[in-house]
Amino acid sequence: MVETVRTIPELRAALKRWRQQGETVGLVPTMGALHEGHLSLVRHARAKTMRTCVTLFVNPKQFGPGEDLDSYPRDAADDMAKLEAEGADLLFQPGPEEVYPTGFATSVHVDGLGDILEGEHRPGFFTGVATVVTKLLVQALPDIAVFGEKDYQQSLVIRRLTRDLDIPVRIEAVPIVRETDGLAMSSRNAYLKADERTIAPVLFGTLSQVAENVGRGVNVAEQSEWGMDQLLRAGFASVDYLNVRDAETLDEVTDVSRPARVLAAATLGTTRLIDNVSV
Ligand code: PAF
Repeated sequence: MVETVRTIPELRAALKRWRQQGETVGLVPTMGALHEGHLSLVRHARAKTMRTCVTLFVNPKQFGPGEDLDSYPRDAADDMAKLEAEGADLLFQPGPEEVYPTGFATSVHVDGLGDILEGEHRPGFFTGVATVVTKLLVQALPDIAVFGEKDYQQSLVIRRLTRDLDIPVRIEAVPIVRETDGLAMSSRNAYLKADERTIAPVLFGTLSQVAENVGRGVNVAEQSEWGMDQLLRAGFASVDYLNVRDAETLDEVTDVSRPARVLAAATLGTTRLIDNVSV
């Protein structure tokens, strides 16, 4: 039975009970509309810690003007059924006033890492993510917090902020869960029309091909150009970026002598998709 709490004092009381029994806690922050990708995070937390707390909050601060805050998929009953089936222990589902009470004036910004790639194309996004995740971590003080590699840059931003702010939690990133045709699972895939859904796996196919080619020594800049061109030819409306970056710092690279990652964001119809693969 998943217990649901909606306030920070209730969350803290539930976690305190577990702590007093010597139990470890894994936190899985989500915005709901749970799919297999999220459930893999819950399974990871359950395997690593004795208690699993999932948070569900569609965070308004990480949506820009004109983005999909109002239409973001929401299905609390379905989310709850899935969490029950996975054996999560606690659901923290606060309302906006609980997270951002009147007068709320603080934000967390990770310089550098938070300003490039997604940060450049979605101004304010990582400040919104960093602010809410900092709050959730400080509220729950879990042993581990689990995020998906689908949002690869996000997991690096969060790791950075926990180090910089001395938040005693281990950040764990779990590999992307994909549909059988390779499309990375995402709540926003629900926006894709039938014809767009058939094109969408080209994103993963292209990133995989670029990763393989640069791994074999083909020129990095040339491969980025090639990859973008492939996506546009397949029917993507635009490509925000398709880059090979250092896997740890996300600095631009000209060769792959260190671990690297190919990351991209591209729009299909009106749906913006992101994906990444390791080289
Ligand atoms: O990845 C997400 O779903 C969100 O960005 C997160 C980490 C739950 C913060 O709102």
